[in-house]
Amino acid sequence: MGWTKVLSESELPAGSRQVVQVDGRKLLLLNHEGTIHAVSNSCPHMNLPMKNGKITPEGELVCPFHRSAFNLCTGAASTWTPFPPVVGQLMGKLKAETPLPVFATRIEDGDILVEVA
Ligand code: FES
Repeated sequence: MGWTKVLSESELPAGSRQVVQVDGRKLLLLNHEGTIHAVSNSCPHMNLPMKNGKITPEGELVCPFHRSAFNLCTGAASTWTPFPPVVGQLMGKLKAETPLPVFATRIEDGDILVEVA
């Protein structure tokens, strides 16, 4: 599908985030410390929304439900369903550890573009 314009740069100031829809997929756009990231808004554990996940000082997005943590650049999981204690670990066994899909972004003429394959 290639590159798709999703927002104007001014619509995503530093520290903000927005969910956009591209080709039927919901993507979470985040401006983290001036870098634009695009990730799937669906957690790979149970497809719950990532939109309200906190970002750690290490640049990981933490799922607000069972607190799996994903690298914003690579999508790799550093923690898989640690919450709630004991129960989270059992729930994590329902599905093998899976990375969060991430998408390339670029700025062109004041617009944010995302590459969705
Ligand atoms: S839905 Fe995200 S860790 Fe369970």
